[in-house]
Amino acid sequence: MTRVGFIGSGGIAQFHVSNLKQVKDVQFVSFCDVDEQKAKKMAEEFKCPHYTNYKDMLNKEKMDACYVCLPPFAHEDQEIAVCEKGINIFVEKPTALSMDKAKKVIAAIKKNKVLSAVGHQDRYEDNVDRIKGLLKNKKVGLVMGYFMGGFPMVYWWREKKLSGGQAVEQTIHTFDLARYLFGEVSEVYAAGSKGIMAPKVEKCDIEDASAVTLKMKSGPVVTIFSADFFDYPASKVGLDIYTEDLYIEYKERNSLRIVGQGRDESFPLGNNTGVAIDSTFIEAVRTRDGSKIRSPYEDAAKTLEVTLAANRSMETGKSVRLG
Ligand SMILES: NC(=O)c1ccc[n+]([C@@H]2O[C@H](COP(=O)([O-])OP(=O)(O)OC[C@H]3O[C@@H](n4cnc5c(N)ncnc54)[C@H](O)[C@@H]3O)[C@@H](O)[C@H]2O)c1
Repeated sequence: MTRVGFIGSGGIAQFHVSNLKQVKDVQFVSFCDVDEQKAKKMAEEFKCPHYTNYKDMLNKEKMDACYVCLPPFAHEDQEIAVCEKGINIFVEKPTALSMDKAKKVIAAIKKNKVLSAVGHQDRYEDNVDRIKGLLKNKKVGLVMGYFMGGFPMVYWWREKKLSGGQAVEQTIHTFDLARYLFGEVSEVYAAGSKGIMAPKVEKCDIEDASAVTLKMKSGPVVTIFSADFFDYPASKVGLDIYTEDLYIEYKERNSLRIVGQGRDESFPLGNNTGVAIDSTFIEAVRTRDGSKIRSPYEDAAKTLEVTLAANRSMETGKSVRLG
């Protein structure tokens, strides 16, 4: 049995629980949430204890893996405490709101030799594997990425100090796929706009929209658009990839279209990426072999760094160079 606990028992925790129920030999050992009712409700299903304080949970319960499923602002010392107990860790994105914090967690993961994974589940899509195959030995000219749609009404999303804003909190999935497919980023240029949501939503100080251009070390230019101000049916999440001889239209968690060289083919998403990311993590914990985890914490921190650089560029109007 692989014993699993949760810190944070909200929406994404429920998603992981429903995936993990489909993975063999997983035992849910405890749930924690500052909102006791949420932890209690989850724990009741598995007849296990619940906590409102993660330190109490980690001191009392034995587990092989802990899922940290917290809103961005709530990441304090939970990850470090988990690592210090020698427990393998799965952290939901965005992993932190500063690189200082992310670096401390990386150090704790290394010091305690635990396995880590981050919830960039799109890396596990069969269509993303297909894109990786198509891009081998191909020159990519231009990429446009998107995360455009409505405004999540949870209270913390609207405040930059709590959520990081849309690029950090949500579009990070698209930034992460850009890194996964095209490699590391050398420079970030960004501009954002405000003025639509702020008058309508109390305390809102995040951008309505942004365009972030990434210079990739491998060559192509990638521009990623975010928008969170409309609820008419025009949402768009994914990537448009223009190679020298193919156009690849990727719709996140939905479909893939490949056009060029005499073909125009479409592929619906063919696998359950939630089950894929969670079963890969549990298998890694079981075998003590993290080589199949596609987004370990240290790698995810590089995506976080790109999104934080986008915020900095939006604030200063200057480009940000990355190492
Ligand atoms: N990978 C994905 O596709 C995906 C999808 C949705 C959400 N997420 C991410 O998951 C994170 C959580 O989102 P959610 O939708 O579950 O939010 P949520 O509000 O539904 O749940 C968060 C829970 O954390 C609890 N909490 C807050 N502070 C806490 C603390 N200090 N200790 C313990 N519990 C605490 C809250 O009471 C709440 O129950 C966000 O960062 C979000 O970006 C990822």
